[in-house]
Amino acid sequence: MPGALVFVGFMGAGKSTAARAASDALGRPLVDIDAQIEAETGTTIAELFARDGEAAFRAIEERTILTVLSRVEDGTCVALGGGALGSLRVREALTSHTVCWLEIDEASAWKRVKRSDRPLARDQDAFRALFAERLPTYEAAADVFLPQGGRTLMHDVAARLLEAGSGRRLAFARAGESIYPIWFGNRVWPATEPDRDVLITDANVGAIYGQRFESLRRITMEPGEAHKTLGTTERMWTQLAEMGATRASRVIALGGGVVGDVAGFVAATYQRGIPVVQVPTTLVAQIDSAMGGKTGVDLPAAKNYVGAYHQPEAVHVIPKVLDTLPAVERAAGYAEVVKTGLIAGGPLWERIRGGAIDDPDTVLGCARVKLDVVSRDERDGGPRQLLNLGHTVGHAIETVTQYRRYRHGEAVGLGLLAVLRLSGQDALRDEVRGLLESLDLPVTMDPSIDPNAVLAATRTDKKRLGAHVPYVVVDAPGALRWGQEIDDASVLAAVQELR
Ligand SMILES: NC(=O)c1ccc[n+]([C@@H]2O[C@H](COP(=O)([O-])OP(=O)(O)OC[C@H]3O[C@@H](n4cnc5c(N)ncnc54)[C@H](O)[C@@H]3O)[C@@H](O)[C@H]2O)c1
Repeated sequence: MPGALVFVGFMGAGKSTAARAASDALGRPLVDIDAQIEAETGTTIAELFARDGEAAFRAIEERTILTVLSRVEDGTCVALGGGALGSLRVREALTSHTVCWLEIDEASAWKRVKRSDRPLARDQDAFRALFAERLPTYEAAADVFLPQGGRTLMHDVAARLLEAGSGRRLAFARAGESIYPIWFGNRVWPATEPDRDVLITDANVGAIYGQRFESLRRITMEPGEAHKTLGTTERMWTQLAEMGATRASRVIALGGGVVGDVAGFVAATYQRGIPVVQVPTTLVAQIDSAMGGKTGVDLPAAKNYVGAYHQPEAVHVIPKVLDTLPAVERAAGYAEVVKTGLIAGGPLWERIRGGAIDDPDTVLGCARVKLDVVSRDERDGGPRQLLNLGHTVGHAIETVTQYRRYRHGEAVGLGLLAVLRLSGQDALRDEVRGLLESLDLPVTMDPSIDPNAVLAATRTDKKRLGAHVPYVVVDAPGALRWGQEIDDASVLAAVQELR
């Protein structure tokens, strides 16, 4: 276990509460740095600030933290003050401990602390600036990303925290009642149970990584979207039955989005549902499809038309497996990265437009955007529609070309260009076009494709409710609106422009 569990985060995130709840749940000692400083100096933090100034307080704080961290026993739960990571020496000391970042958005943080006696929460503009300044420091230091949730959440997740750290980063996905871990790192391969687990993979991925799961029974599908069909799932259901898989069995899905969707659907339906662990091996799957619980297959009529929501038990994101991904598949994931950057805006968009397209931090950042959106809306009723940015036209292009002409991500790239035009974002469209081009993605559509057929195919989009297909439009990176109606003539013009 890597050192102490150190809870960090902005003012109002609930660090003291979380550290106390973790300490109770795990039966480990608790140290609250602010409380310790107050006890040792015999004065409150607010009084210390007022009397001696912030610099003097920071010096005491740094000294106290360094002393505590050099002595604590493993697993001790330590709550730090919100500004503690401003010290380089503290950040260095934290590298041998497990840093648990309690995330909170700025508006909620302000609501919680605006009437407190906290010296740095007096003026909202200064508070906002401090929030933006500190955010990247927490993000860089974090081994564990904790959503809000107080004592109940800690009860559910505390034991996992002890497995994180030393290059094993951990986030949590929340969907309705369920919460499950998302592991990131090159050493986070799932532990398996040969009597229970069945590996589902495709022929390409199985040949490269299958030996890691040698002790498991295995079902292998043909690779590619063309095999994301009910025929494939029927063969899998039959094979599971022939293997004697029961309701106590578990599926390990090893592969890209196709394997994840198919194996997830098989797990959702076999004997009315068995657990699935997702081990995504493509960029698309690592930042998007492995998380959120959507599973399913295509029909000849349209993509993803049959499926189920089935949240995985856990997701294991191993950046190194992308090394063997063919360049063209990697490029197909880039469009989803660009899409996610546009949804997120802020520092993630800056990283992506600056060219950091698939390094582990970008993958983690993109995956966390997906987790955030899904946690706000499990079933596409609201914010989750944001993830469909560029997908209505993208899916329509895939449908009219029978899923054979473009990879999913390539079609999404074209869909993004169409929707940026429909959003009136001409400059941003030019930038994204340049970005896609530099990433070897198509920026024009095969002229043999009939734009009217693409328009007609948008009407079969699953997101359609009533007469209209709802679009996600972009006002700026990070500022999007979903559920927007757009007239056929404009959509047709935006598709025609792609030729
Ligand atoms: N469920 C969701 O929320 C969701 C979200 C986005 C996309 N999707 C689905 O994901 C699918 C696309 O997934 P994809 O882009 O991952 O394609 P994919 O699963 O078809 O994989 C692409 C190719 O790369 C190979 N491959 C995979 N990992 C490899 C590795 N590490 N090394 C070498 N080869 C490897 C595969 O065998 C395949 O040939 C689509 O069907 C789409 O609908 C689902």
